[in-house]
Amino acid sequence: MTTSSSGVFPAVRMRRLRATAWRRRLVRETVLTANDLVQPLFIIEGTGVRQPIKSLPGVERLAIDLAITAAKEAESLGIPALALFPVIDGALKDDQGREAVNPKNLLCRAVAAIKKAVPDIGIICDVALDPYTTHGHDGIFDGDDVINDATVAVLVKQALVLAEAGCDVVAPSDMMDGRIGAIRRAFEERGFVNTMILSYAVKYASAFYGPFRDAVGSKATLGPKGKQTYQMDPANTDEALREAALDVAEGADLIMVKPGLPYLDVIAAVKAHINVPVLAYQVSGEYAMLAHAASNGAFDRAAATLESLLAMKRAGASAIFTYAAIDVARALAGKS
Ligand code: PBG
Repeated sequence: MTTSSSGVFPAVRMRRLRATAWRRRLVRETVLTANDLVQPLFIIEGTGVRQPIKSLPGVERLAIDLAITAAKEAESLGIPALALFPVIDGALKDDQGREAVNPKNLLCRAVAAIKKAVPDIGIICDVALDPYTTHGHDGIFDGDDVINDATVAVLVKQALVLAEAGCDVVAPSDMMDGRIGAIRRAFEERGFVNTMILSYAVKYASAFYGPFRDAVGSKATLGPKGKQTYQMDPANTDEALREAALDVAEGADLIMVKPGLPYLDVIAAVKAHINVPVLAYQVSGEYAMLAHAASNGAFDRAAATLESLLAMKRAGASAIFTYAAIDVARALAGKS
């Protein structure tokens, strides 16, 4: 960026560039389109079932048939991809998250059904054990901490059943060390050469995940340390750059920074240091803040949402996961 040193007021009047709508459009540096959005969906068992999520106003858990309807709308609005999160029946959870590697589990069935009905929308699936474990941790927990290498072995199997089901992008969100390389190797060996890996390389131990944990029922008994022994300290940026570089070296195609708006500096830093696309996640707590503030009259919800997403794009995000994706795409298409 260069700053002209020659001109000063009144020769320079910055407001000339802002004086009319066409001038502002002419010089706009960042544009948000439906192509930049990924719609997360929470999937539940059943047919025709939808459940509101108290801490995420306006977001529902959807049975597979209703998720297909949402997928069709997302595709028609130009949204490139969905991110699917299963809500697993408590009876199927255990301390090892075994249901995660069942090729007939809810998520695998959802992937196959959506892929069949809406073949041209990308399907992204979390790889982590938290929806499947009784304790709510992302891996195998020994009562004190999550065990890294044993967890990676299970994550590889989870990634393989998802790829087998037709998932286009696996998104390890667990923050174990070494899982990207292990998953990439397994994919190459089994012929899933085009299945992408979106690494949640830069995932902070954030309070903003609260409503998500309500939505998938993983809040249960995380214990006093929470997820701090594997998710990152919100104070750190150098560590974010190391995480991103390691995961790229191990074979990640895409890198996630999460949460989004409170970490714009991190998005920009990762974007500046690595040359793979960086995505951002407007997480559940960010979405909930916007929804609650707007419903209390603080601001216009649509305008504040668009501004937040644009800010992430300006910081360097190639795409953004947001629970508002379909609503935003409708608004951008003039259909809201
Ligand atoms: C689970 C996972 C989480 C989110 C995405 N994948 C929660 C967590 O790590 O506890 C958070 C998403 C959100 O808050 O919207 N591995």
